[in-house]
Amino acid sequence: MMREVLRGLELTPGLTVVDGTVGGGGHSRKIGEQIGPNGRLIGIDRDPTMLDRARAVLPTEGVSLHRGSYVELPDFLKADGIAAVDRILVDLGLSSDQLADRERGFSFHADGPLDLRFHAEGPTAAEFLAKASETELVKIFHDYGEEPQASRIAAAIVRQRTTHPILTALDLADLVGSVTSHKGPSEKHPATRVFQALRLAVNRELEHVQKALAESFPSCLRPGGLLVVISFHSLEDRIVKDAFRDATVWDVVTPKPILPTPTEERVTPRSRSAKIRIARRRP
Ligand SMILES: C[S@@+](CC[C@H](N)C(=O)[O-])C[C@H]1O[C@@H](n2cnc3c(N)ncnc32)[C@H](O)[C@@H]1O
Repeated sequence: MMREVLRGLELTPGLTVVDGTVGGGGHSRKIGEQIGPNGRLIGIDRDPTMLDRARAVLPTEGVSLHRGSYVELPDFLKADGIAAVDRILVDLGLSSDQLADRERGFSFHADGPLDLRFHAEGPTAAEFLAKASETELVKIFHDYGEEPQASRIAAAIVRQRTTHPILTALDLADLVGSVTSHKGPSEKHPATRVFQALRLAVNRELEHVQKALAESFPSCLRPGGLLVVISFHSLEDRIVKDAFRDATVWDVVTPKPILPTPTEERVTPRSRSAKIRIARRRP
C-alpha cells in the first residue's frame, strides 16, 4: 500500500518526517526521495537488526535513526534538536524479514527458539509461558488473540510445562494444534491467534500504540501536520479509531480506513488485513 501511504502523507520538499517503524527502510526511502535534500527524516525501530537494514539503504545526509519505540519520539526529537515535525508514519507489527528470521520464533512454520521480542529486553515468550498463571494465559489469549479456545489452550500449556518445557515455536504450534479443533485447510493455522497474543504481550505492543497516539504524537506533531497509521489487526485498528475520536487533538481525514486493492492482496497476501487511517493535528 505504498502508493496510498505516500499520497496520504502529502509530502513536499523540505518537510520534517518521522517514520516511527522504519523497518527495512522501504517507506523511508520513498519519503526521502519526496522531501529531498532540504527535508529531514527521523527513523525509529525497536529492533536493532531492522535499524541496521534501514541504515544500509538510507542516505546519511538529513536522516537520523534511533533504536527504541516510537513512544519515545519526544526524547529522540530533543536529541536531534527538533521542536515539532510535519508528518508521522507508523506501520505497525512485524516485517517479513523478522517473520523469516528462524532465531526469533515469530513464525510457527520454522522451529526457532520461542522468543518473539523485538529487542533483547524482558522475558522471552518461552520464559513468559513457563511462569504465567493459567488465568493470566487465558486472559492474554482472549484479550490479545481473540482466541475462542483460550481456556483449553492455557490448560494444555500448564499441563505440558510440568514435564516438557515449551521452548520452540514448533513446540507451541504443535501443542495448540493438538488441543484445538481444525476447521479444514482454508482456516488459518490454529496457532495464529496464540502467537499474535504472545507477541503483543511480551512486547506490550498495544500499550505502545495507545500511549503514542494519546501523548507522544500529539505533543510532537505541529498543528496541521498529518499522522498516517497502518494497522494489521482489529485490536490495533480499534485503538487508532478510538484515539482519533478525540476532536480536541485530531481532525479525521479518513472516516473509513483505506484498504488494499484486490491486486495488492493477490501480490502481497500479508496486506490482506492492512488498514490505513489518517488524521490531521488540530491547531
Ligand atoms: C511492518 S514493519 C515496518 C516496515 C517498514 N515500513 C518498511 O517499509 O520497511 C514494522 C516495524 O516496526 C517495528 N516496531 C514494532 N513496534 C515498534 C515500536 N513500538 N516502536 C518502533 N518500532 C516498532 C518492528 O521492529 C518492525 O521493524
